[in-house]
Order: sequence, then structure tokens, then C-alpha cells
Amino acid sequence: MIREMREVIVAANWKMHTTPADAGELARAIAGRTRVAGVTRVICPPFVCLATVGDALLELDPDIGIGAQNVHHELQGAYTGEVSAAMLAGLASWVIIGHSERRRDAGETDELLGRKLGRAVDAGLRPILCVGEQLDEREAGQQSAVVRRQLRGALHDRDPAKLAGIGLVVAYEPVWAIGTGRTATGADAAAMAVVIRDTLGEFGFARRGETIPVLYGGSVTSAAIGEFMAEPSIDGALVGGASLKPDEMAGIVARAGVTAVARGLTG
Ligand code: 13P
Repeated sequence: MIREMREVIVAANWKMHTTPADAGELARAIAGRTRVAGVTRVICPPFVCLATVGDALLELDPDIGIGAQNVHHELQGAYTGEVSAAMLAGLASWVIIGHSERRRDAGETDELLGRKLGRAVDAGLRPILCVGEQLDEREAGQQSAVVRRQLRGALHDRDPAKLAGIGLVVAYEPVWAIGTGRTATGADAAAMAVVIRDTLGEFGFARRGETIPVLYGGSVTSAAIGEFMAEPSIDGALVGGASLKPDEMAGIVARAGVTAVARGLTG
């Protein structure tokens, strides 16, 4: 059954933490603690640490994917301080798109995120598209409508075959759970995975988006991950604060590995 074959992914979003002086050591520490069969691992350091992390992992653990936390929506041009998809080639193979902190701080709209998705695909970067509602939206019962609107806004001009081909991942990150120590429940995340796959289905993703991995993000720790990995519709986590702690990453990836075994991904 396709659902059981879906990849299991743990992605670390280091946000605005680490420097080129210390990122390599952290990457090596995480690599040494997270070699678990069947789990796809990704580390997304700040732009300026991509090369250091890449060098640190080149021989030690080339299986760890390296991702950027953002990419510009234009190909090139007069955009001071920005980073294009082509600039990331060779430094990253993944990219986070639409993180709520960028929607909040950089005013990124769903339409803009759609363009970023296009740039990522064209440059061969595997996108992790983030969606998720604010607290007031959840309290008003609007979480499904918000996530549908975000997905529709980002995907309406995109080619689903290309996005599926490159391995689109969607991360459900309820904004009220990010950095707050308050997680959603496994049931909340599973319900949203249904909404996400159903919406992907509108865009012609095969089998109502059944093959697209859906991650949960928001205060994930080694203690909290089990609840999410126990949900068959959830395929892993996008981890913020805890991803800076090798012990925490070890626990999170180990628990993801249990799901990978159960799905028969360990060969
Ligand atoms: P925290 O794990 O720190 O809550 O952050 C989640 C997140 O935003 C990952 O992208």
C-alpha cells in the first residue's frame, strides 16, 4: 500500500542560529548520533553556514541532505541581500519555503511562495512547503480553511507532476505551536494531513496527494515525537529548537526509525 511506503523524514531548521565557526561541529555531532536506517535526514542551517556544513558532512555522512531556509522568487537581478536558487546549487539540495516566520517577518504571500516553489523545482531543489494556522484562526475553527487557502495560493500556477517528481514535502506547522513548548496533538496533525492531501488532490497530485510526505512541526522534542510518528498519515518532523541539540536529534530520529521499520523502509 502506497501509504506505508511513504518516506520518513526528519528535517532540522536551525533558523538564525550557529555561525560558520561552530556549524560544522554541530553538524558532525548530529550526524554521529542519527545514523538510523530508513530515515531521511536533512539539516537546514543559515545560508552562510551551508558550505561549512556541507564540508563537515562530505565524508562523514553524505546521506544527510542539506537545505536552505529560503530562496528568492526571481532568477537573478537587483535584489540586494537576496539568494537565488542557482546560487544554492552545489550548496543545498533542499529548501524550506513559506516558513511562518518568513510569512510574518518578510510578508511572504502564498502567490510569492508559489513562485519560490517554481524556482526551487527548476534548480533541482527539493521543497519543504510550510503551512499552518495562527492561534486565533484555530480558536475560530478556521484551521482547515487557512491551510487549504495557503496550499491553493502556492500551488495554483505550478506543475504538479514536476513538484511530485522532485519530491515535494509539506510541513504542517501550526504557528501557535512554534517555539512555544505547546504541541498540537497527534490527532490535530493527522486531521490536517488529510486536509493537505485532499487539497493536493485538487491540483492533480496522484491519488489525492497520497504519495507526498507530510511532516509535523512545532515544539517537536524527543519526548513529543512519538505521538506524531504514531499517526500513519504523518511522515516525520520539521524540528526547530530541539534540532540544535544532538541528544534531542538522536531521540527524534530514533523514534522516526521505528516508523521506518514498520513501513518496511529499511530494506
Ligand atoms: P520549534 O521546534 O522550535 O517549535 O520550531 C518549529 C519550526 O518552526 C521548524 O521549522
